[in-house]
Amino acid sequence: MIRKIGILTSGGDAPGMNAAIRSVTRVAMASGIEVAGIKDGYKGLVNGEFIDFERSSVSDILARGGTILGTARLPEFKEESVQLEACKKLEEAHIDALVVIGGDGSYKGAKALTDKGINCIGLPGTIDNDISGTDMTIGFDTALNTVVECVDRLRDTSSSHHRCSVIEVMGNRCGDLAVYSGISCGAEIVVTSETGYDEEAIMEKLRYLDSQGKNHAIVIISEKITDVSNLAKKISDHTGFSGRATVLGHIQRGGSPSPNDRVLASRMGEKAVDLLVSGVGGHCVAIVHGDIISLPINDALMMPKTQKRHLYRLFDRLV
Ligand code: ADP
Ligand code: F6P
Repeated sequence: MIRKIGILTSGGDAPGMNAAIRSVTRVAMASGIEVAGIKDGYKGLVNGEFIDFERSSVSDILARGGTILGTARLPEFKEESVQLEACKKLEEAHIDALVVIGGDGSYKGAKALTDKGINCIGLPGTIDNDISGTDMTIGFDTALNTVVECVDRLRDTSSSHHRCSVIEVMGNRCGDLAVYSGISCGAEIVVTSETGYDEEAIMEKLRYLDSQGKNHAIVIISEKITDVSNLAKKISDHTGFSGRATVLGHIQRGGSPSPNDRVLASRMGEKAVDLLVSGVGGHCVAIVHGDIISLPINDALMMPKTQKRHLYRLFDRLV
């Protein structure tokens, strides 16, 4: 029987993490289960930084971005001795089970703790939408909204100056933020690890668009592909457009979560508690075709990333 659930956020923060913390807390408490918030991810866990939550501990956090618990990266958590120390701290605090909100690195930590006897459930919290097994992660929708707002603004100024705006978005090698925003904003070019990077093809396309009388162009490119300032300079040198680069950066991680993220996080938090109450551990929660499901963390980690070929094909047909 579960008497106390611990909850932590780990890896990069994402809007909607607070909504998930609130949901886990309120659903657990409604079933008579106590909840402890754990500060700064696995780092706080190993250091025993626990806060016994009241119902009011999660009041007024639903609309707030970031995570009230704080998050951190602790590379040493891969070591068994550090994981055993975490188990000891949990036992001392009478915490029987854990909800971990984070990305697939955080999932690996949750799986390791489950193997050591503490049931853990992972919730997908990242703006990158790069977790296999789920159609959507908590935070992606909000980040996409932020990107779209920024790109729309950049289009206004680009079209006034016959410019090409090169906009770098996050994604940690996943192209979803780029291709979703490309479709949403009517970008001319999207470059991701899925499309590959062909500089000459980009120049050629921009020269063609210029020759067709286009007065601006938007290139959305995933981070970690190329230096966007260099690319913008080359665009100025080799096409009729004047190039300007914008790196959206951590702006994409902040802000109040969208209603979709709030609902997704609340549904996933509820599922995590229900799983723990029924004795399940080592699973992660996912949304598939609108249904909230769970699957073993190992299965999610081993699944190939979902291909979004249909979105790239659509993008090409819309340009
Ligand atoms: P994300 O969870 O967003 O993928 P990271 O990959 O940075 O972010 O992982 C977050 C944290 O999860 C790491 O700092 C570490 O504490 C823990 N972690 C990552 N990989 C492992 C692993 N193989 N075993 C145990 N814990 C891990
Ligand atoms: O995983 C979320 C993310 O924002 C990625 O998109 C990005 O590559 C990375 O985290 C940035 O990490 P940091 O906040 O450590 O700079």
